Amino acid sequence: MSQNSPLNQVLLHPDRRFGADLDAWLIDVGGDGLDNAITNPELIIPTIRDAKLLGLGGSGFPAHIKWEFVANESNDQDKYLICNGNEDEPGTFKDRVLLQETPHQVIEGAMITALATGINQIVFYINPHLTGSLEAMKEAVNQWDETQYINQISKILGRPLEFYVVASSGLYIGGEETAALESIEGKFPFPRGKPPYPAQSGLFGSPTLINNTETLSNVSHILRNGAEWFANQGEGEANGTKIFSLSGDVLHPGAYELPMGTPLTELIHNYGGGMLLDRKLKAVFTGGPSNTILTPKDLDVPLDFNSVQERRSSLGTGAMIVISEGTGIVRRVTEYVSFFANSSCGQCPSCKTGTYYASQLLSRIDSGAGTRADLDTLINLTRILPGSGRCHLLDGAMKLLDSSLYHFMEEYEQPLKL
Ligand SMILES: Cc1cc2nc3c(=O)[nH]c(=O)nc-3n(C[C@H](O)[C@H](O)[C@H](O)COP(=O)(O)O)c2cc1C
Ligand code: SF4
Repeated sequence: MSQNSPLNQVLLHPDRRFGADLDAWLIDVGGDGLDNAITNPELIIPTIRDAKLLGLGGSGFPAHIKWEFVANESNDQDKYLICNGNEDEPGTFKDRVLLQETPHQVIEGAMITALATGINQIVFYINPHLTGSLEAMKEAVNQWDETQYINQISKILGRPLEFYVVASSGLYIGGEETAALESIEGKFPFPRGKPPYPAQSGLFGSPTLINNTETLSNVSHILRNGAEWFANQGEGEANGTKIFSLSGDVLHPGAYELPMGTPLTELIHNYGGGMLLDRKLKAVFTGGPSNTILTPKDLDVPLDFNSVQERRSSLGTGAMIVISEGTGIVRRVTEYVSFFANSSCGQCPSCKTGTYYASQLLSRIDSGAGTRADLDTLINLTRILPGSGRCHLLDGAMKLLDSSLYHFMEEYEQPLKL
């Protein structure tokens, strides 16, 4: 593929960036998926299941399974959908583009999801630092409120369909799904213990479905074009497309929508323009830094959830932070672990103390003042801390640390004091 090959853009198609112009969206591809959903609401979940749409907020969990949990809850009560647009992990910058430039795509997907699950309250939960996204969504929601679609869906649901655009706290931890519930209820975003799961008792104690912005953006296209079409958008066994947030030492960083399963090397070289100043690639921090590291031997890896996992890593949000030779891994990991330490909500002593302690040890080793005992303690933390926190923030920080120790132990050992 040459550098000028067209991108496989469904969600970020340049002709689809209408901002808040609902008429333009409906004349283009919009409305058809929603019409199909209104005609046959009972076919929505089977279509999403056959399309194998996965959650694109990091987990890759099948969307239809979460939807079924909420659909199975009684419809004699309010049910909530939260469209997660908190997006605060370093290196991830895809949802903001969708919210700001294609708000109707997001809203139509959310409406179809609501129809499928009996949800009547839709909350667009957006990072307040993304002011363009917040404004675009507020304006776009007002436009849908003027349409017949709202009455039609309310009639099917038997309750009024309502939209809310809510600014999150802007904190990284506020993107965790149960922390989002607390935040929308007006409290500090402390993640909740599970069970109960949000599908049974979420926002204000009601059944709640939480999906990432990119996940919901795919829904109207699947309902318009069918499950088979969606499967054909991906490479190999993978279905659909993925927006990769490419950053770091590449010539053209940016948000690239490509077939799910596109090899990493193609993303970096054909779309990212290759390495900056022709430097050699040293590592790629995947999925935001709360994951494991890929190294040059993994350049051929197809970027889909299963294939990346087979390389002891994980696709996460699809963020790819490219690092070139000459960049110190210990310094970079210190920065990221400090980010997690600062982002810890402090509820779990193991997380608050563990991430802080790890960042102190890392700083000491990076500055040349570390000892063998410091490194041994750091290694020990990666063994005892995972699984001891209420949410996955701690696990993500330890995964990164463990992976960097596995691939780059010599960089940790080299500056140690004897
Ligand atoms: C610390 C932390 C921060 C998170 N931040 C976000 C976020 O900003 N946006 C998001 O969609 N998911 C985020 N998640 C994942 C959510 O908890 C949840 O899995 C996701 O919103 C579900 O959507 P999906 O099934 O469509 O992927 C975060 C998770 C953790 C542990
Ligand atoms: S693991 Fe960390 S961020 Fe998550 S709830 Fe516990 S203290 Fe808060």
